[in-house]
Amino acid sequence: PGPVPFHSPRQAAVLAEPVRHTIVAAFDVVAQNRHELTELLRELTGRAAFLTAGGALAALGITGPPADSGVLGPEVPAGELSVLVGVGSSLFDDRYGLAARKPAKLKPMPVFPDDALEDRWCHGDLSLVLGASEPDTVLHALRDITRATRGGMQVRWKIDGFTSPPRPAGTPRNLLGFKDGTANPQPSELDRLVWTDDGGSYQVVRLIRMLVEFWDRVSLSEQESMIGRRRDTGAPLDGGQEHDVPRYAEDPVGTVIPLTSHIRLADPRTPRTDGERILRRAVNYDLGVDTNGNLDMGLVFTCYQRELERQFEAVQKRLEGEPLTDYVSPFGGGYFYLLPGVTDPADHYGRVLL
Ligand code: HEM
Repeated sequence: PGPVPFHSPRQAAVLAEPVRHTIVAAFDVVAQNRHELTELLRELTGRAAFLTAGGALAALGITGPPADSGVLGPEVPAGELSVLVGVGSSLFDDRYGLAARKPAKLKPMPVFPDDALEDRWCHGDLSLVLGASEPDTVLHALRDITRATRGGMQVRWKIDGFTSPPRPAGTPRNLLGFKDGTANPQPSELDRLVWTDDGGSYQVVRLIRMLVEFWDRVSLSEQESMIGRRRDTGAPLDGGQEHDVPRYAEDPVGTVIPLTSHIRLADPRTPRTDGERILRRAVNYDLGVDTNGNLDMGLVFTCYQRELERQFEAVQKRLEGEPLTDYVSPFGGGYFYLLPGVTDPADHYGRVLL
């Protein structure tokens, strides 16, 4: 599929093919009042529309700073960037008198039992996910947006993500070496599982560190038992190809695919749990080295669903204490509501809601 059109009833970039570079950022909104909040959302919409459509930059003034950072040269290329905008429950506190407008199921991300959350990496009034095939494109967009919205919002946290190309084929791999994103809902299931009735979606972001040095000392068969899939092909352990469907009914005690494997706990594929499925869009991150000299890398896990508790939290609860928890450690993220799409040039993010 080609670039997703900006004007659309839904922020359909959620469904686009994985791109190589992503920035996920959360902001604190500092607008002084409701009017300034609306101005902020208008400005954000205008920048997102321009940055995705591309074009020549506005003419230079004589004394002011140039129209943008210049990172992409004099013209922003068309169709390179995707933008996703969400809002956190904190935007609906007393500040702007929006309590009655809060999406019904939106709430702050709770702390789960295996979490080691750091406040500086958590929550936010607004979320932004930028995607492109080059790292300078997403950085340029972030700088353009932060500059245009200065006074209205400030970056709270930001993480760079990347996606591998198919190695050698199929779904991209995460930094544990396994294909990640294989079992996701089909296009025909999105209305039932992903989009809310007003064209939004609940967005979960989880920043999950991977203890890769520790993982790299585990045998391949043990790694595969923890995940429930083959590392090379991504096939379930009872199958031959990546997209083969695991046959749990034929393996009730987990001889081939252990009952404690990640995929079997995450989605036991029963009629009862069918409505709990989620759309996952994970990317890798690399933050360098921690203060103890360990490699600091992992997964920026994001997922989209119609409901947080019935879907993401139900899956997360089943994964509590899974063998994989010894090798991963969630340290940040938040819950957001991906706003309905911007339908036309007169519309702006959150117009219906706010
Ligand atoms: C599947 C890795 C965190 C939910 C998978 C797969 C891998 C994987 C390799 C199999 C391929 C695929 O279908 O995509 C990881 C790693 C994680 C992580 C390394 C943490 C660093 C999570 C979290 C959730 C989750 C936090 C949700 C709470 C799922 C689901 C599936 C899945 C629903 C599909 C299961 C199926 O239908 O077979 N994960 N995952 N994962 N994961 Fe995760």
